[in-house]
Amino acid sequence: MSDAPQQVPAPAARRGGVSRRGLFGLAGAGVAVAGLGAAAGVIASGEQPAPVADTSAPVAFRGQHQAGIVTPAQDRMHFVAFDVTTRDRADLVRLLRDWTAAAERMTAGKEAAEGGAVGGPRDAPPADTGEALDLPASALTLTIGFGASLFDDRFGLAARRPEALIDLPRFPHDDLDPRRSGGDICVQACSNDPQVAVHAIRNLARIGFGKVSVRWSQLGFGRTSATSTTQVTPRNLFGFKDGTNNLKAEDPAALAQHVWVTEGPEWMVGGTYLVARRIRMHIEIWDRTSLVEQEDIVGRAKGSGAPLGQRDEFDAVDPHVRGAGGVPLVADDSHIRLASENLGGARILRRGYNFTDGSDGFGHLDAGLFFVCFNRDSRTQFVPMQRALSTRDRMMEYLEHTGSGHFACPPGLADGGFWGERLFS
Ligand code: HEM
Repeated sequence: MSDAPQQVPAPAARRGGVSRRGLFGLAGAGVAVAGLGAAAGVIASGEQPAPVADTSAPVAFRGQHQAGIVTPAQDRMHFVAFDVTTRDRADLVRLLRDWTAAAERMTAGKEAAEGGAVGGPRDAPPADTGEALDLPASALTLTIGFGASLFDDRFGLAARRPEALIDLPRFPHDDLDPRRSGGDICVQACSNDPQVAVHAIRNLARIGFGKVSVRWSQLGFGRTSATSTTQVTPRNLFGFKDGTNNLKAEDPAALAQHVWVTEGPEWMVGGTYLVARRIRMHIEIWDRTSLVEQEDIVGRAKGSGAPLGQRDEFDAVDPHVRGAGGVPLVADDSHIRLASENLGGARILRRGYNFTDGSDGFGHLDAGLFFVCFNRDSRTQFVPMQRALSTRDRMMEYLEHTGSGHFACPPGLADGGFWGERLFS
């Protein structure tokens, strides 16, 4: 495994970051917490040059949109879908308030609650589980979404369900496991340190004990998309660059057109819809496929990531370019053409992760892509795209969709606001 610094941040002390324990000590010494985010992130002193990209720095929790969507994709993910087990609406709202407070603290690199792992009463369970004590914020983002099942008759939300929050249709070749699908509430934790992401989800689950239960969860490593032009395009488990032609944070006009909701219920304006698909990749079969066939399937060169017939990764795709004998180089059933043509200009923001979940008992790795995308209306973006891919994409021969979720992610929070406030008000 690579030990490149952006993949596995070094301990805070060596990197000059501020650990949770450091924060605890400083806070105890009366240092204003407000300044600490900056201290953990960019060093602004005139004497020392600011680091170019500190992967241990915090990402702002509040803002116009939730973090974890167009903020630069981190290297690790822990995604969880919860079932709400309480039937009491007030109980659920209280939980969402408690979660917000814990999420805000953890994304700032602090422990989940005051007192934390070791500072509270010794005769009570600690207010934080402790495994992230010595770790910095590591760019942790926590993004919440609400699933269609939350809008049934339990909490009086039926009339507030957005029309766009459909039950996704069944696509050809779907092999969905209900134990890896659906859920009332999802939380996507992304971080540059896997332990920080897992700690965050674990503490949210702990706080939710008796009110929610974990329905399914997925760990991801190695982002499979770039969400900013400042990021190098990573590779997926087929070995191809993934995220080249993705929507990017630097293109707000495209994000406004394809990602952020402008209509529907007021509580969703400024939000977006998240689609998660656990896609098993039959990598053993892929690995026995010739390079030329692999490149034909994707429509791009494996080494450079350039569209076939072009030189560089970011060269425009030319569907008309022909090779020897006049044969089109970018086949009309290649992945990149099916995912972009004849869709009325629909685009999505991809933000997925590689996964391996051990082996399947038949001598194969249970590996693949945990596909996550954000779009402003899945009915006109993700669904037609996935329909085209599942029907005609030659890549489907190597893929099996085993899990699925669709969630409404509300806009970001202003000061004092809590997760779900506008939905429940
Ligand atoms: C395991 C499954 C998948 C793999 C291995 C995969 C791989 C790739 C690769 C290598 C590219 C080219 C580089 C790039 O522009 O990012 C690409 C592009 C793309 N993929 Fe996928 N993909 C998968 C599933 C999906 C799914 C489920 C969707 C949506 C329903 C999707 C939508 C797209 C789109 C929109 C593009 C950009 C097309 C363009 O405008 O050029 N992909 N994918």
